Amino acid sequence: MKILITGASSGLGAEFARQYASKENELVLLARRRERLEALESELIFKCKKISLICVDITDFELLQEKMKALDDVDMLILNAGISLGHTSNAVPSIAAFKYLYDVNVLANHAILEILLPKLLTKRSTKIVFISSLSSLFTMPSATVYASSKRALNAYAEGIRYKYSKDGIKVLTILPGFIKSELTDKNEFTMPFLLETDEGVRRMKRAIDNEKEFYAFPLRFYLIIRFLNLLPSKIVQWLVQKY
Ligand SMILES: NC(=O)c1ccc[n+]([C@@H]2O[C@H](COP(=O)([O-])OP(=O)(O)OC[C@H]3O[C@@H](n4cnc5c(N)ncnc54)[C@H](OP(=O)(O)O)[C@@H]3O)[C@@H](O)[C@H]2O)c1
Repeated sequence: MKILITGASSGLGAEFARQYASKENELVLLARRRERLEALESELIFKCKKISLICVDITDFELLQEKMKALDDVDMLILNAGISLGHTSNAVPSIAAFKYLYDVNVLANHAILEILLPKLLTKRSTKIVFISSLSSLFTMPSATVYASSKRALNAYAEGIRYKYSKDGIKVLTILPGFIKSELTDKNEFTMPFLLETDEGVRRMKRAIDNEKEFYAFPLRFYLIIRFLNLLPSKIVQWLVQKY
C-alpha cells in the first residue's frame, strides 16, 4: 500500500510513519523540515518497501500542487499536517495568524485533493484520512481559531465522503483529544486524558484499519463533550467561564 502522510516530521505524523512501516507499505512523507524527514527515513528505510520524501511548505499551494502532480497512485492519504496558535488568553488573534492557520489546517488539504482526487477516482479504492480534533466539537474560547478550522475540516470531509463514497473512496475523520507532541508540549495547563504519542496513534491506526468513518477519542473525553453539547447554552457558558 502506498501511503502519503502529511506533517510526517514530528508528533502524530512521524508516529504514523513508524506504525505503518512494513515491507508491504511504501511511505511518502511530507513536511517542511528536511533533516527530520531524512532522520525518519534512515530509521525506517529497512522496514519499508520504499520511502520518498516531499519537503514543501503546504501553504505554498502552487509548489504543493506541483509535487502532487508528480505523485502517482496513492492508496491512502493521512492528511495530518496542522498547527495551533497555542491557547491564547484574552489576546485577539491577528488576521494574518488566522489566515495562515486556515491555509495549513484546511485549504492545503484541498490543494492536495484538487490534484489527487481525479487520479483517485479512476482507482476506485482509496482511503482519505482527515486528522481533525475533539476541539472541533466544543470550542474553548482560548482556541477559537483552531477549533473553527477543525470544524471546517469536519464539514469538508463530510462533503467529500458523501460525494465520492460511490466511487470507492473511503473518507475517515479522526478526532483526537490530547496526545503528546510538539503541538501539545506548548500547552501550559494540565491536559485531561493526555495520551502518549504511540498509544494515541495506535488507536487511530486501529480505527483506520477498521475503516471507521468517524472516530473520536478518548471515549470518556468525547462523552463529556457530547454531554456538554446537550446542556442549555447558558449553563455551558457559565461552566466555561468558571473553569
Ligand atoms: N497532539 C494533539 O493532542 C492533537 C489533538 C487533536 C488533533 N491534533 C492534530 O494532529 C495533527 C498533528 O499534530 P501534532 O500534534 O503531531 O503536531 P506537531 O508535532 O506540531 O506536528 C505538526 C506537523 O505538521 C507539519 N506542518 C506544520 N505546518 C506545516 C506547513 N506549513 N507545511 C508543511 N507541513 C507543516 C509539521 O512539519 P514541519 O514543521 O516540518 O513542516 C509537523 O510535521 C494536527 O493536524 C493537529 O491539529 C493533534
